[in-house]
This record gives sequence, structure tokens and C-alpha cells, in this order.
Amino acid sequence: MPREAHPDVSVLVTGAGGPAAIAVLKSLRADPSVRLIAADMDGWAAGLYLVPSADRAIIPAGAAPGFARALLARGQELGADVVIPTVDAELQPLAAARQEFAQAGIALMLPPARALALTLDKLALARACAGAVRVPRTECLDAAVDPGSWTYPVVVKPRTGSGSRDICTVVSADELKATLSMTDAGSGFLVQEYLPGEEYSIDVLSDTDGRVVAGVPRIRARVDSGVSVAGRTMHDCELEQFGATVAATVGLTYISNVQVRRDHAGDPALLEVNPRAPGSLSLTVASGVDMPRLALDALRGSPLPEHVEFCEKAMVRFLDERFLDLSEIAETVG
Ligand SMILES: Nc1ncnc2c1ncn2[C@@H]1O[C@H](COP(=O)(O)OP(=O)(O)O)[C@@H](O)[C@H]1O
Ligand SMILES: [Mg+2]
Repeated sequence: MPREAHPDVSVLVTGAGGPAAIAVLKSLRADPSVRLIAADMDGWAAGLYLVPSADRAIIPAGAAPGFARALLARGQELGADVVIPTVDAELQPLAAARQEFAQAGIALMLPPARALALTLDKLALARACAGAVRVPRTECLDAAVDPGSWTYPVVVKPRTGSGSRDICTVVSADELKATLSMTDAGSGFLVQEYLPGEEYSIDVLSDTDGRVVAGVPRIRARVDSGVSVAGRTMHDCELEQFGATVAATVGLTYISNVQVRRDHAGDPALLEVNPRAPGSLSLTVASGVDMPRLALDALRGSPLPEHVEFCEKAMVRFLDERFLDLSEIAETVG
């Protein structure tokens, strides 16, 4: 059946150097009604070169002061109607500027403020999901922690971390006491029950009201520098339901990624949620759930199907090249 004809829409995708943005760009590129704008802070970001030179934007880092304002100005200049951020550091600054973007006629593909706040703080997430799914014991790393009350090992990690940074495994009560004595109050770390089992990522698609349309579990068979370079999707009703329950409990919209690991008993337990497109989204798209296109349909007001099914697929990945005239790279790198 031909796709419903939409008016043309210009979609700006940030983080063009990363695999999440590349997956989004490749997916939306197949839709002739979409014009793509690729943005990144680095002129060498590969995804910039998937779009014509007039549709590339160099923007500040998400954490830089004035990031949202600069992106808004550049988005307006380039005629963007929609912004899809794929970089964690950009999410809160953009959410804070949601109204300015709306006034400029630019829609942000972002979940509501509450969902963003819950997913960007792993302690808040654990508390919010505790009654809904199995959540590992999780406490703020502060003077109230009783090292004698934990089973070891435990994991100590930042409440707002990403990319596995600053995560450590603590093997005894003495070591946890030592860690506590070295940690300033309010340092923003948490202590969590160690989950020894297999790890899964569940990509979830929700509509603008938070109704879950698809949940696609996958395993990361090989990881290189934090990016999955081989993996597979898998049917598992328990995991699909787990992802859907977490997304609905948190109130997520559009694309999110629920990470779980099995506990001692083999039951899946919640690790964290990324409230944005994940780096291996291309595998989920190849498995039959074209999340970027469906999420864009939802944002543009088209009702999504009740449920979108997937078929199991495996993925291996390799580096690919684009060769450019020096004049082309000079335009973005300077
Ligand atoms: N409670 C835990 N038990 C076992 N492994 C964990 C636990 N917490 C984190 N990890 C390991 O560390 C990785 C990164 O942790 P995660 O909570 O996903 O934070 P990040 O935001 O840095 O990705 C996980 O993919 C997992 O392999
Ligand atoms: Mg993670």
C-alpha cells in the first residue's frame, strides 16, 4: 500500500557522527517526503556527508552554554521543522527550550519533562519503576548506606552517567566503607545490587501519548568501544513486556531503549533507560520495526498501528568510507 502523502518536512538530526544518528538518517532517507539536515559539533562527523552540503550544520556541544539557542538559530536558518536529538547531553538543554522551538515552528522529538528527568537519573528511575518491574536494590551512595546490609559484589556508578564511565564493582563491605569514606556527600553516585546474568537492550516505540507500539529485545554479541558491532534481535515475551512496562511507567514517547540484565534467579531486572534512539537502532529497523519513520509519523499526527511485530535478525557491522573533495571537508571543518 503506498504511504500516505505528507507535506514535505525538514528533519534535523543531531549527533551525526554517531551510530544512532546514522540509523535515523538511513531510515528517514527512504521517505521521499523528508528532507534531512545532519548536525554535529565536529566537521569530521561521518553522517554529515550523507546529506547535501547545504543541509549540514555545525553546532556547539550539548553541554556548552547557549547550545539550544545556537541550534534553534541554525535550525531556523536551514528551515528545519523537526529536530531529532541523539546525544544525551543535548536532551535537557533542548527540553528547557521546548517552548522557544515551538514558537519558531520546530517540533522536538523528545519525551515529556518527567520522563526525561526519570531516565537521566538512574536512582530516580529505579524508584519510579520499583512497583512495576524487577528493579535491583539501588540506593544513593551517602552516609545512610549500611555496608553490612548488602550482598557482594555491588556496583557503584554515577546517577547520571553514560558510556559506562566511572562504574566500578565493589567486592566487600570493607571496600564499600572505604568507597563511602572517599565519596563526598552529594557526589551523585549510587550503589546497586550486582546483576550477574545476560544483558539485553530492548528498543521501544511509543506514540505521542506514551502508548507502546513495539518492543524489540536484542543482545549485543560483540561490543567495540561501547558500540555494538554484532548482535541479534530475539523474540522473548517477558523481555518485550518488560520494556513496554518500563516505557509506559516512565511515560516515554517516540524511541527509547530499556537496558536489563538477569539477576541470580535468571529474572530480567532494570539497568537503565536511554530516552532516545540507541546506537544499534539499525538492527531493530532491519528486523521490521522502522522506528524513526514511525516516530516521525506519530510526531506529524498520524496514528500509529496498534502493534508492530518484528522478525529476528542478526547483524554484523564494519566501517565504511565516503571519499570527499578537500573543498567539501573544508566547508565544515574550516
Ligand atoms: N547493577 C549492575 N549489575 C551488573 N552490571 C552492571 C550493573 N550496572 C551496570 N552494569 C554494567 O555496566 C554497564 C553500564 O551501566 P549502565 O547502567 O547501562 O550505565 P551507562 O549509562 O554508563 O550505560 C552495563 O551495560 C552493565 O554491563
Ligand atoms: Mg547503558
